[in-house]
Amino acid sequence: MSATDEPTAWDWADAAARLDREDPLGSYAEQFETAEGVVAYFDGNSLGRPVRGVADRMAAFVREDWGTRLIRNWDEAWMRWPEETGDLVAAAALGAAPGQTVVADSTTVLLYKMLRALADAQVAADPQRTEIVVDTDNFPTDRYVAEGIAAERGMRLVWIEADPATGVTQEQVAQVVGGRTAVVLLSHVAYRSGYLADAPAITTAVHAAGGLVLWDLCHSAGSVPVELDAWQVDAAVGCTYKYLNGGPGSPAFAYLAQRHQATVRQPVQGWMGRRDPFLMGPGYEPAPGVRSLVSGTPPVVAMVPVRAGVQMLAEAGIGAVREKSLALTDFAWDIVASWPAELGVSIASPREHECRGGHITIRRHDFAEVNRELWQRGVIPDFREPDGLRLGLAPLSTTFAEVAAGLAVVRGLIGP
Ligand SMILES: Cc1ncc(COP(=O)(O)O)c(C=O)c1O
Repeated sequence: MSATDEPTAWDWADAAARLDREDPLGSYAEQFETAEGVVAYFDGNSLGRPVRGVADRMAAFVREDWGTRLIRNWDEAWMRWPEETGDLVAAAALGAAPGQTVVADSTTVLLYKMLRALADAQVAADPQRTEIVVDTDNFPTDRYVAEGIAAERGMRLVWIEADPATGVTQEQVAQVVGGRTAVVLLSHVAYRSGYLADAPAITTAVHAAGGLVLWDLCHSAGSVPVELDAWQVDAAVGCTYKYLNGGPGSPAFAYLAQRHQATVRQPVQGWMGRRDPFLMGPGYEPAPGVRSLVSGTPPVVAMVPVRAGVQMLAEAGIGAVREKSLALTDFAWDIVASWPAELGVSIASPREHECRGGHITIRRHDFAEVNRELWQRGVIPDFREPDGLRLGLAPLSTTFAEVAAGLAVVRGLIGP
């Protein structure tokens, strides 16, 4: 495309105004706190924006639930929050029936607990199953947790070489699983490229080899429809501070399919996951059901914003959220694709909707410096090594106008 054919920032702003007018979820953007000086927030896939009203809910929680009910509120409500909040997440984002999900701990800690629990169950059932399958481009914490468990339990890691521009395919998984496979740990949406793995097909391939599968849903919960029950997933873990708007460091969720709950034992045996914790009895005996995934005192205060974010998602509906997510990433894609080739910007995410999650990554040699300048100007994507600018477009809080305005600033910084 020659420079003269390139649509102008005005053209894109016009197109954005039309898309915003037609957007059935358009009114949700106003339900988030506004951020003074922010032109475009492209990092909702790292840290979602605060839902307006959360500050009041937190204040009410401090004054009433905590301030007035004091310790009585553990019995009255808080003891049940890990499962109750888990069920809210499950219904809004995971396609999972109640009684299989808890909210507790960080993603990393829950990944450890679930991976070790599944691995131990597999080895106990068949001592030959000593392999954990992971991919080279999975999020660092997933790889490190798997390395730690392999060392601790004398297991072997089998690495799938993932193409960072795409992601792990069913064929790659089918090639490495077999009679020695204990567990396969993968991300549903790749944190770098936004590649959406074929979770149902991969889960089926792992099961056909007798393995179990643990999905990291950090980048899909709240942006991509997930059907854990229908896909027969064994276990899943994900965070709540991205598309569920739980706030910095909000607790993660873990799902364990009903059929595994009687046999799979997580390793951090704490009093809050014990049957009758206040008996303070000798020896650990897991609480029935999914409660046994809890270890210590639940992070109740941090669940207040999670519940508000999940409530908003439930109301909007994950199907509508996904449609808007694809429309937003399509729009960003079209803008970037219209830039002259001489600018040297490439798109490192899948074009096909069925392979694309909620963010896209664009690449150029100097994007590390460009990103620093963008943050100064109130345009906030994030940078991922070696040269990727990640555009995470949270569907409920991002407008098309914001996409057009933010990318106009990127365009202005990289060429005439
Ligand atoms: C795919 C994925 N897994 C895990 C994590 C992080 O885990 P934690 O919440 O324990 O920091 C992230 C954080 O961004 C992530 O993107």
